[in-house]
Amino acid sequence: MTPAEGYFAWPAPGREAPLPAAAAQFFRENGYAVLTSFCAPQELSALRARAAEIIAAFHAEGAGSGTVFTTREEARATDDARFLASAAEISCFLEEKQVPGVAAAPAVNKIGHALHDLDPTFGAFSRARKVRAVAEGIGLRAPLLTQSMYITKSPRVGGEVRPHRDAAFVHSDAPPDSPAGACLGYWWALEDSTLANGCLWAVPGSHRDGAHFRRMCLDETRAATRFEGDEAAERSYPHESYRALPMNAGDLIVLHGAVVHKSLENTSERSRHAYSIHVVDGKVPRSCWLQRPASLPFREL
Ligand code: FE2
Repeated sequence: MTPAEGYFAWPAPGREAPLPAAAAQFFRENGYAVLTSFCAPQELSALRARAAEIIAAFHAEGAGSGTVFTTREEARATDDARFLASAAEISCFLEEKQVPGVAAAPAVNKIGHALHDLDPTFGAFSRARKVRAVAEGIGLRAPLLTQSMYITKSPRVGGEVRPHRDAAFVHSDAPPDSPAGACLGYWWALEDSTLANGCLWAVPGSHRDGAHFRRMCLDETRAATRFEGDEAAERSYPHESYRALPMNAGDLIVLHGAVVHKSLENTSERSRHAYSIHVVDGKVPRSCWLQRPASLPFREL
């Protein structure tokens, strides 16, 4: 059987290997590449078990104070302080939609954004040599690891992620023509990710459209966020121009910072756990929402 376009078997399943040249080439042209069987099953179970512990501890503390995560700008404003603090913390964010009286506890949407620097399990996974090999294969010289997210996409309530470019949220001083643009996104399927439970969709080649970028920045107070630009360019692609990217548990997709992508609601009975990190080949500017205190600087992959 011919593998689907854009899907490449990782040469040594679960272990370190160089990025296949065909995957690097596809990434350059399309803005993404899926690397199948990148992870060993025990890596997936370790991340899932650790996330379950973090979420259980969050519920035990009283989840009512959890911030709702949304990609809608207007709703985000009230939660700015907690969102900004999460750049250097492990914080749980709740789904907008909940199922009162059905679920035992409010559904967590994601955990972010410093798992890779504060949690040993996520730190070891994120800084495995095979992870760096992917960035190097794409052409990054000194990949700086800036943020991490554990995304649950819970059954029946997992929210839509509207069309966006990751470069709207993770900025760098890397030139636009650098191999991954402003940032390189990694997204691991920790469970099978399907059309039913809200897999990723991307617009092949949209990283090269030159459209104006929206950016989530700090405002003058440096205590709240504001967007530069608007969503128009990110939302301009009709659904027909997207390609669905279902993945098996253990597959990795890498995303150019400027490729437009989205995911739909999870209306199924199955969760869609994923882990994601973003690296930049340069420095994070002071205008970006993602800032670290001097005590916890960004470190390389
Ligand atoms: Fe994204």
